[in-house]
Amino acid sequence: MSGNISVIAIDGPVAAGKTVVGLALARRLGFRYLDTGIMYRAITWLALQRVTPMDDEDGLGSLASSNPVTLDGDDSARVMVGGFSVGPELRRPEVDRHVSMVSQVSQVRRALVDQQRAIASEGRIVMVGRDIGSVVLPDAGLKIFISASLEERARRRHSEQVARGVDSTLEQVVEETRNRDNLDTQRADSPLTQPPDAWVICTDHLSVDDVVEMVADRVGQPSQGRAG
Ligand code: DC
Repeated sequence: MSGNISVIAIDGPVAAGKTVVGLALARRLGFRYLDTGIMYRAITWLALQRVTPMDDEDGLGSLASSNPVTLDGDDSARVMVGGFSVGPELRRPEVDRHVSMVSQVSQVRRALVDQQRAIASEGRIVMVGRDIGSVVLPDAGLKIFISASLEERARRRHSEQVARGVDSTLEQVVEETRNRDNLDTQRADSPLTQPPDAWVICTDHLSVDDVVEMVADRVGQPSQGRAG
């Protein structure tokens, strides 16, 4: 069908599967991959390193504009920021606790959105986040909104936490996921929304491969052996 699609925007709530789908899709299509959440995490990590107060919006904004986040590898697991290559440290609880606050700061968002647009301008990219189809790349060739029920998303996050040895109950994770949804959808600047022109895919009963193949079909790369 649309064989000339070169920019794919994927948005969705926490734990809907958008990053795992996005990476698998990028590999399937031979596109670059950017998980924009890691850029907000990188600025949060740098702010913690530099002891920038989390309520100092100007300080956080100038930190983001003077320290561009660049890709280190092709899977968005590591980035370069402020002269450091960082990866697993961006998933630490300390970063988790502060990243929502940092990502609400408009000056930070403006700096990172400019960087994201520059990265996308070279084409052939799958970009994942909360505001990609709505704000960052409103002209993307394909916009996908990956969703899943609150219970299913909480169940996935809980299993991941159990696998990592984190002590939590499913009830706690349901509550945390609900809070994260509220923060993402109710912030003043660029809240998580479903763009009206997005293709909505609910992953409650779909595997990652199912979703990747559905999207690959749609962008004109059906798997071998399939009709069309
Ligand atoms: O997807 P994640 O958990 O790594 O995202 C980290 C934080 O960044 C989370 O609070 C949502 C926010 N975020 C955002 O506001 N806009 C994006 N495009 C990506 C992430």
